[in-house]
Amino acid sequence: MGMSAAPFVPDTRDLDALRRAAAECRGCELWKNATQTVFGEGPPDADVMVAGEQPGDQEDKQGRPFVGPAGGVLWRAFDRVGIAREQVYATNVVKHFKWEARGKRRIHKAPNRIEIVACKPWFAAELDAITPQILVLLGATAAKSVLGSSFRVTRQRGVVLEGPNGIPTVATVHPSSILRSEDEGRKQAFGEFVRDLAVAAEFVSRPSRRRGPPANESRSQSSAGSQR
Ligand code: URA
Repeated sequence: MGMSAAPFVPDTRDLDALRRAAAECRGCELWKNATQTVFGEGPPDADVMVAGEQPGDQEDKQGRPFVGPAGGVLWRAFDRVGIAREQVYATNVVKHFKWEARGKRRIHKAPNRIEIVACKPWFAAELDAITPQILVLLGATAAKSVLGSSFRVTRQRGVVLEGPNGIPTVATVHPSSILRSEDEGRKQAFGEFVRDLAVAAEFVSRPSRRRGPPANESRSQSSAGSQR
């Protein structure tokens, strides 16, 4: 067998146990240059599971997915379609940050086929543990890893497909691509992203607990997050 996370993945649906084991993963070489494993995060009964490519610079430092600029776009778009963060389990198909130095900055480097394949058992274990109502894949790397290499985001974004374990799955662009576009193009790209997530939102039977305006406007600091 080639490089694989499989020997490191415990046979359990307990997310905490999976997370602890993932911290020790040596299934490919990416752990060597990363600060830490960035495992998925969210409630075990999440309605929505969303997967990106790999953690970015901020995620690598903090050890949590989607806490950087791309995460900002993602959470804003989910909010727009009525999906609260508490309903989402967020992860990546590759769980270590791959980068190359450019001056003092660490620039994202795309994971290669071997690394993507090696990391698949972690995603499979997360999907088994969560069994979401809808799976959302962000960008070509995540979509191809889960749906097969012939998948084309440009042609099939926003379309509900049958994913692994028969779970309804929708792919869309990666939120970082929205950050790379400018001005009017960015607005349009964000609108199209929201439209794709709205397709996913239709699969969520449990309505968001929040009512009216977005949570950060309607809730006081002290009550925010106290209801699970
Ligand atoms: N981009 C991703 O694909 N995942 C993250 O966690 C952050 C940025």
